[in-house]
Amino acid sequence: MAIATKMMTCRMMSMSPGMPSSSPPTQSPPPTSLPLRTIPGSYGWPLLGPISDRLDYFWFQGPDTFFKKRIDKYKSTVFRTNVPPAFPFFVGVNPNVVAVLDTKSFAHLFDMDIVEKKNILVGEYMPSVKFTGNIRTCAYLDTSEPQHIKLKNFAMDILKRSSKVWLTELVGSLDTMWDSIESDVCEKGSGGYLIPLQQAMFRFLVKSLAGADPSNSPEIAEGGYAMLDKWLALQLLPTVKIGILQPLEEIFLHSFAYPFFLVSGDYNKLYEFIKNEGKELLSHAETEFGLNQEETIHNVLFVLGFNAFGGFSVFLPGLISRIASDTTLQEKLRNEVRQNAGSGLSFESVMKMPLVQSVVYETLRLSPPVPLQFARARKDFRLSSHDSVFDIKEGELLCGYQPLVMRDPEVFDEPESFKADRFMGEEGSELLNYLYWSNGPQTGSPSESNKQCAAKDYVTLTASMIVAYSLKRYDTITGNSTSITALEKAVK
Ligand code: HEM
Repeated sequence: MAIATKMMTCRMMSMSPGMPSSSPPTQSPPPTSLPLRTIPGSYGWPLLGPISDRLDYFWFQGPDTFFKKRIDKYKSTVFRTNVPPAFPFFVGVNPNVVAVLDTKSFAHLFDMDIVEKKNILVGEYMPSVKFTGNIRTCAYLDTSEPQHIKLKNFAMDILKRSSKVWLTELVGSLDTMWDSIESDVCEKGSGGYLIPLQQAMFRFLVKSLAGADPSNSPEIAEGGYAMLDKWLALQLLPTVKIGILQPLEEIFLHSFAYPFFLVSGDYNKLYEFIKNEGKELLSHAETEFGLNQEETIHNVLFVLGFNAFGGFSVFLPGLISRIASDTTLQEKLRNEVRQNAGSGLSFESVMKMPLVQSVVYETLRLSPPVPLQFARARKDFRLSSHDSVFDIKEGELLCGYQPLVMRDPEVFDEPESFKADRFMGEEGSELLNYLYWSNGPQTGSPSESNKQCAAKDYVTLTASMIVAYSLKRYDTITGNSTSITALEKAVK
């Protein structure tokens, strides 16, 4: 097949789905004989260029069309443009970027020898550090900063320690979630799942990652998830298209940064909750990682609230909606689950469910939860796309928009279609080299020397477990992007 031949020229590894490789393909592509091209595109007139691009991005075109139109205009997946936020109130935020929009050019973002990631988690604009107790948390640190080594290892250690209770806490929270949706479906004919899902993920993540039990604090148990939602929203609003009536969105949501004091009360409650209920974790962080109480709590809240809760809150509704709205797919998944589940579900049994895992990967491919990724050139270097090579200067900001990169026709057949079995079999496993949702390939391994998501494998296994668990509990689940409209319980 053409795709297989094409892939031979790229970094390639034969992997079992979900298993990390021993040597991650996080190097930029090797030098090629492709033609050297000046990076097309321009930043436009000062002030006017950034504001016109901002209006296109948020209002007239939307992010997908914004990037697609420029690919067509410049006949290149690499070009210069501005990305918001910008003028008038984001003084000192330089909106100029080099967009990298195919799998090959995007892969340079993972090569920590040539790019750095200091303070650019959401782009050149960085939300105030007041949101994180005046400290720069792990995700804002570059790999060259000694504190990144400490905090990344701490994050990976939290996950390792939590793996003892991960499954029980997940299943307990899913039970509560489905009980609540089920009773709504019985009483009202349908049940919204967005809030029950967030409540379940909040409880599960707080208990497993921080070892803190929300039921010891009624206020946190009741409203902790909403506190995180508000805290996240205020940090991210200037960078996200919401889709409400324009020009209101431009005036009120994208023109200035919201101040921390609007959520400081809630944040302080979450801080006190971790301080009181997560004592074992705090003392472990101090003895094993030399982290003081304050930096531990702010980092735990960031990992828990921003990375984990934020990531799952964006990813899972799309996954549930996909399954609940496709009865044919659901039947195939259910058969696989029931054949492999045995007496009870475990992560081992889920790893024997290639279709379930492939559906999780395909959802991540078509709807990557973190759409934009950034990296700054550490030095001058040559960047390759599929057809050209470009000179990048030290200090330039690269911006990858994953939803387009993950539809790269050079790598993915019928890139716009949802193909449930895309990542199955040998060819499917090879495609995992090009699945980048975690800021690295799915065959890579997070480490202190890269910026790949610490929970790369936990996320995909947890999502697979949610699918398997739900289809073990129900014979059919019917619904849409917000609600479940019918449930048929499995006969035990
Ligand atoms: C669906 C859920 C998740 C998604 C989509 C997600 C996605 C990502 C992405 C894209 C990055 C890289 C950001 C960048 O630098 O551009 C990242 C980093 C990170 N993620 Fe996740 N993540 C998820 C869940 C989690 C969970 C459960 C944890 C729990 C420990 C976690 C911990 C981290 C950490 C610590 C980093 C920073 C890595 C570093 O600084 O080297 N993530 N995540």
